[in-house]
Amino acid sequence: MNLDFVRVGPERLEQISAFLTAEPWPYHGRPRLSAEQVRASAAEGVYWSDETETFLVLEAGTPAAYLRLFDLDDPTALFDLRIRAARRGQGLGQTCVRWLSAHLFETRPELHRIAANTRVDNHAMRAVLGRCGYVLEAYYRQAWPQEGRLHDCVSYALLRSDWESGTLTPTPFSQEAVR
Ligand SMILES: CC(C)(COP(=O)(O)OP(=O)(O)OC[C@H]1O[C@@H](n2cnc3c(N)ncnc32)[C@H](O)[C@@H]1OP(=O)(O)O)[C@@H](O)C(=O)NCCC(=O)NCCS
Repeated sequence: MNLDFVRVGPERLEQISAFLTAEPWPYHGRPRLSAEQVRASAAEGVYWSDETETFLVLEAGTPAAYLRLFDLDDPTALFDLRIRAARRGQGLGQTCVRWLSAHLFETRPELHRIAANTRVDNHAMRAVLGRCGYVLEAYYRQAWPQEGRLHDCVSYALLRSDWESGTLTPTPFSQEAVR
């Protein structure tokens, strides 16, 4: 897989817009995006700002995936990953998550954690996170509004210390009473 991770700014707005509007994103709060919505988000600093970096993952010059890294001034950074439908299920998700984890910990020494929230039934994303060393930390009931429904969602995180040492620190949930 020969991939280029290209950090984008306003000069690539049209390319981001083409990628995001070309197909639906069934697990996102807003599954269909219009070019107008993408332009409005860009104007609000959603894709680039002091705390946000956006990348297009290019394969032979064509975008195969989109990565938005945000809340980068917090001790816990977040990300959004979207792979175009034709390239899903072929390992790209894991490649992207491993790449962004290394990129963030290597370029932001103050960052302690990277977290990702996803719909509870997004099995592919959950599998990717688990394979990349992210640990399930939270289950939120009815917390993911989407087209008039409230889905449950889950939160995973990777600790810098685990990333550095290649270990996996479990949560204490299994020892606590749940009621
Ligand atoms: C979620 C997403 C990023 C995963 O990336 P991907 O490239 O499709 O995933 P990978 O090919 O790396 O697969 C990772 C694992 O998930 C498993 N998997 C893939 N699809 C699955 C499914 N529908 N159900 C269960 N497991 C699945 C794969 O078998 C693989 O497991 P393995 O390592 O044992 O083989 C990608 O599918 C995507 O962009 N989906 C739409 C946008 C989205 O939902 N983004 C997440 C928003 S929070």
